[in-house]
Amino acid sequence: MLSDPIIGNYYIGIMSGTSLDGIDVAIAQRTRHGFVQIAAAAPALDNKLRQQILTICQDKKVELQTLGEVDFQFACACAHVVNQLLEDSRLSAAQIEAIGSHGQTIFHSPNGAFPFTQQIGDANLIAAKTGITCVADFRRMDMAYGGQGAPLVPAFHQALFAKSGENRVILNIGGIANITILESDNKVLGYDTGPGNTLMDAWCEKVNGECYDKNGEFAFQGEVLPALLKLLLSEPYFSQSPPKSTGREKFNLQWLAKRLAQLDSGLNSNADIQRTLLELSAVTISEQIQLHSAACAVFVCGGGALNPLLMQRLQALMPDYWVSDTAALNIDPMFVEAIAFAWLAEQRLLENTIPLKAVTGARRDALLGCVYRP
Ligand SMILES: Nc1ncnc2c1ncn2[C@@H]1O[C@H](COP(=O)(O)OP(=O)(O)O)[C@@H](O)[C@H]1O
Ligand SMILES: [Mg+2]
Repeated sequence: MLSDPIIGNYYIGIMSGTSLDGIDVAIAQRTRHGFVQIAAAAPALDNKLRQQILTICQDKKVELQTLGEVDFQFACACAHVVNQLLEDSRLSAAQIEAIGSHGQTIFHSPNGAFPFTQQIGDANLIAAKTGITCVADFRRMDMAYGGQGAPLVPAFHQALFAKSGENRVILNIGGIANITILESDNKVLGYDTGPGNTLMDAWCEKVNGECYDKNGEFAFQGEVLPALLKLLLSEPYFSQSPPKSTGREKFNLQWLAKRLAQLDSGLNSNADIQRTLLELSAVTISEQIQLHSAACAVFVCGGGALNPLLMQRLQALMPDYWVSDTAALNIDPMFVEAIAFAWLAEQRLLENTIPLKAVTGARRDALLGCVYRP
């Protein structure tokens, strides 16, 4: 077992979330105070591979051969992004202690009779193709102890962003939004609040053919539809108590279509629906933050931080809170999650259990991730 974290060691984190927008990779260096981003990239996923993964996630049915082949291809894509970033930043594989790879979730089902979560992107291949030790499969040990297996990032938020005597909220707006409430007495609470960008992305793609609503421009053209918003807010997930986690399995185009069909939505413009979906994310996130934390600073990360209308609505719905992004804490909001997986890889090599049971509801804090050596 290694002793204390060695200052100067490099780790790599690979993250690709629900949005399927790309593969985020960050090289981070351990310092005395945390992790510093050295280099990062977020190339888009190859369109054919993205469509294949989307089909698997949406249809929830896949031939085993296709699954194996997509798993292989996604791992190769991850290894390629790592190798490219190392080359661009003039670092060698030998300088990197480990990669933490989240993998691409294709199914997350924490509450069924037989709970499971499934990520693809074979870590054996990533290790072999990069020559770097790869740590992967971070969620399933937490689930094996009865936890949600998600979200995992609150432990990293706590390690990096907690400040004693100060309440802080870290809000990650990816496809799904999750909050981490860091309390002044070092307590931590975190869970998925529901949709972040995923419904906005799905609607925008359906009606405009664009993967996402760049800078919220489409939503800016619409008005909130109160009846639709009310119906969307009646989803039971929003009022469930934590621990809880969710994904594309629940919040998807079919979920939205079912509710649109209950209203005379023919009268509404597509932009109004886009605007209402943005409001749904803003309202559900801000309600949960205000329910669980005293007024404090909220630091946003994830792609949603780049949507000015969403950021504006969050600030307006939480007038007593100060809403900014994690750049104010010296971490690029686009790479907080990737760096979190670099940190999780380090923690796994140090054989540190991850303090997450208060977040995920697991019976105990566990050692997360399996180690694949090249
Ligand atoms: N300029 C932008 N304007 C509006 N939304 C953006 C912008 N850039 C990124 N996004 C949103 O962020 C999403 C990606 O966020 P990300 O944090 O990578 O999520 P995930 O972890 O689910 O992959 C995109 O799908 C898009 O909805
Ligand atoms: Mg992403």
